[in-house]
Amino acid sequence: MRKIGILTSGGDAPGMNAAIRAIVRSALNLNYEVYGIEYGYDGLIGCDLKKMNINSVADIIHRGGTILKTARSEEFRTEEGRKKALNTVNEFGLNAIVVIGGDGSLKGAKEFAKLGVNIFVLPATIDNDMGYTDFTIGFDTAVNTALSAVSKVRDTGSSHDRTSLIEVMGRNCGDIALHVGVAGGADCILIPEMEIDVDKVVGKIKQSISRNKRHSIIIKAEGANIKNEDLMKIIEMETGEECRQVILGYVQRGGNSTSNDRILATKLGAEAVKLIDSDRKNLAMGILGSEIVAIDLEEATKITREPDLGMLMLINTLS
Ligand code: F6P
Repeated sequence: MRKIGILTSGGDAPGMNAAIRAIVRSALNLNYEVYGIEYGYDGLIGCDLKKMNINSVADIIHRGGTILKTARSEEFRTEEGRKKALNTVNEFGLNAIVVIGGDGSLKGAKEFAKLGVNIFVLPATIDNDMGYTDFTIGFDTAVNTALSAVSKVRDTGSSHDRTSLIEVMGRNCGDIALHVGVAGGADCILIPEMEIDVDKVVGKIKQSISRNKRHSIIIKAEGANIKNEDLMKIIEMETGEECRQVILGYVQRGGNSTSNDRILATKLGAEAVKLIDSDRKNLAMGILGSEIVAIDLEEATKITREPDLGMLMLINTLS
């Protein structure tokens, strides 16, 4: 009997459950035995596996979080940790492992593959910071969650004539900020990949005031290189308007996944199993345009993500 193991790793992302469901059911259809590994790579090290059947993934397609739990494994970063994980793979006789996770999980998978394990990666992180794929599972849901908050903040900001500084997630990548900024009609966005030009932010707000619009929206990715308090102080001093901050935080990681995320997760999961069944090895699954792609693990880790300057320009010209 051929066997597939599945784990989720790193920060959770809405749509992980839809991916687990697609992998489990596609694999069962091809007569694989399927094992869920709990708490990511830590579960592989600690032999935390349970056999899954068709009912294990019933009623989860819509749910945020991950039924397999997740962790950021420090031990797996070490060679010793990966050797322990290899023992588990051998003990259970796993023919392939599907890892659902972000950039760190992809790098871990690449290292693990060097020990002879067949490992597939499904990109899942709300940050969308993986360069080899246009979109990661969870990004669309996070953007929509943040967007709905931005609309609410806009209502109160416009009633009080205030500038709203809204911080979204994204330690190294400004994609959430960019997409929320364009869709939410932001006046400015601040992202980790670009230098912060405070004069430009102040100039934008003043420009709005001069046409009698006294509420501005600034979307800032958490990793953008300026402290919220410092920015707020400068804005208030230079424009004479009140500024309030809203940090959206973990709310962006939870909630029912959007149709886009569920469909992406389902397609990627089903295709990964198909490729495993045709004896392909060590691939990172992704989407480019509307096409599902599978890229060599090593290659995938080398592709970094660049910010979409076109989106930035749209915000600049339309605000
Ligand atoms: O999932 C990605 C992310 O949300 C980042 O934007 C954020 O900086 C990080 O995870 C924080 O996650 P944790 O506190 O769980 O390590």
